[in-house]
Amino acid sequence: KEVVFDYSRAAEFISAEEMENFKTTVMSAKDTLVNKSGAGNDFLGWIDLPVDYDRDEFARIKKAAAKIQGDSDVLLVIGIGGSYLGARAAIEFLTNSFYNVLPKEVRKTPEIYFVGNSISSKYIADLKQVLAGKDFSINIISKSGTTTEPAIAFRVFKEMLTEKYGKEEAAKRIYATTDKARGALKNLADEEGYEEFVVPDDVGGRFSVLTAVGLLPIAVSGADIDRLMEGAASGRKKALETPYESNSALLYAAVRNILLRKGKTVEIVANYEPSLHYVSEWWKQLFGESEGKDNRGLFPAAVDLTTDLHSMGQFIQDGARIMFETVINVEESPAEILLNKEDVDTDGMNYLAGKSVDFVNKSAMNGTILAHTDGSVPNLMVKIPEQNEFYLGELFYFFEFACGVSGYILGINPFNQPGVESYKKNMFALLGKPGYEAQREELLKRL
Ligand code: PA5
Repeated sequence: KEVVFDYSRAAEFISAEEMENFKTTVMSAKDTLVNKSGAGNDFLGWIDLPVDYDRDEFARIKKAAAKIQGDSDVLLVIGIGGSYLGARAAIEFLTNSFYNVLPKEVRKTPEIYFVGNSISSKYIADLKQVLAGKDFSINIISKSGTTTEPAIAFRVFKEMLTEKYGKEEAAKRIYATTDKARGALKNLADEEGYEEFVVPDDVGGRFSVLTAVGLLPIAVSGADIDRLMEGAASGRKKALETPYESNSALLYAAVRNILLRKGKTVEIVANYEPSLHYVSEWWKQLFGESEGKDNRGLFPAAVDLTTDLHSMGQFIQDGARIMFETVINVEESPAEILLNKEDVDTDGMNYLAGKSVDFVNKSAMNGTILAHTDGSVPNLMVKIPEQNEFYLGELFYFFEFACGVSGYILGINPFNQPGVESYKKNMFALLGKPGYEAQREELLKRL
C-alpha cells in the first residue's frame, strides 16, 4: 500500500501521447530540481530532509513534547503560513475530530490551539478565556522572527504566561522555533533562555513541516513523528527513483501542467473527510505561494465534500469551465459505522440498512467524479491507503516534490514569495513603522 496518483479518470482530457511527449519537459524539470541547478536552489534542504535531519534535535523535540504533555493542559502554537499550516494539517489528519474537547483521560495529551495566524482581537480574547485556570506552554514559530501576526500574539500570550508563572518559570514554558543565528525571536530566545529549535536556512516555510516547525506540535499531540519521517523517506525514494511512467509526483506535475496549457486555470482539491480540511489548506499554500508569480500559475482552490456539493458543487458542475479537480481519497476509513434498519421507513433510508457510512461516502465520491467528468471537469485522484503518520509523510513529500517539479515546468522560481511583501509594506506604512514615512503619506492620500 502506498500514496498513489491516479489520472485514469481523466483519460478523455489527456492522451497517452501527450503524457509521453511531455516526458522530456518533466524529466528536465526534475533534473533541475535534484541537481540543484534552478532558481531558488538555496532552498532545497527539504529534498533530503527525511533521510538527513538533525537526530539530536529530533530527540530534543521528543523530550520537549513529553515535558509539555506532562506540565501543560494546553499548548499554544503561534505561527502563520508555512510556520502554521503543516502542523495543523497533520494534527487534524491524525487525531480525533474533536481532539480539544475530548475528556483529558481519553485524549491524554494537551489541548492544542493555533494563534498568530490572523490579527483578530476577538480570536485572541476568546482564546484567553479558554486558557483561564489552565496550565499552558507556548511554541512560537517564526523563521524570520519578525512576522507581525505571530509577534503580536506572542506578546499577548507571553504576558499572560509571565503573569501566571513569573518570568523564570514562563521562560521554561516557551519553545522558540526560528532561524539558527538571526532575527528578533532568536535574540529574544537567547536572552530569555527559551528552548530553541531550528528552521534550517535552506528550507522555506511552506516546505518546513518535517522540521521542528511541524514536528514539535505534532509530537505534542501524541502522533508518532518517527513514522511520519519514515513515510516521508519512502515518498522521497519513490519520487527520486521511480521511472516517469509510474512516478506519482512526476505524473501529477505533468498532468496539471498539461491541463493548464489546455485552459484549465484552476485546480480544486476535493476531500471527502473533514479531517483533511487543513491538508487542503496546506496544499493551497504550497502550490499557491510556490507557483503564483510572474503572472503565471494555476489558482489552487479547495472544497470539503460532500459538504460543498451543496454550495460550490453547482459551480463545479455547471459554471465557467476553468477547472480540474484533484480528489484526495482516504481509501480505508479509520471508523466503521453501520446503518441499521428501522421498523418504519419514514426517511426512505432502509435501502441502505447493513451498509456502512463510508460506503455511502465512497458512492457519493464516485458518483461526483463521474458527474464532474461529464461536466468537462477532468478528475484526478491522490489515493491515501489509511489515515496514519506513515502515509501522511508520503503525502507531504509527494506534494512537495511535485510542486518543485511543476514550478520548474512552469518556468518560475517555486521557492521564493516576493508577492507576499506588498501587503506588509503598506501595512507597516499605515501603522507608522519607522522608515516608512514617505509611503505612509502616499497611501493615506489614496485611502
Ligand atoms: O512559506 C513561507 O515562506 C511563508 O508562508 C512563511 O512561512 C510565513 O510568512 C511565516 O514566516 P515566518 O516563519 O518568518 O514568520
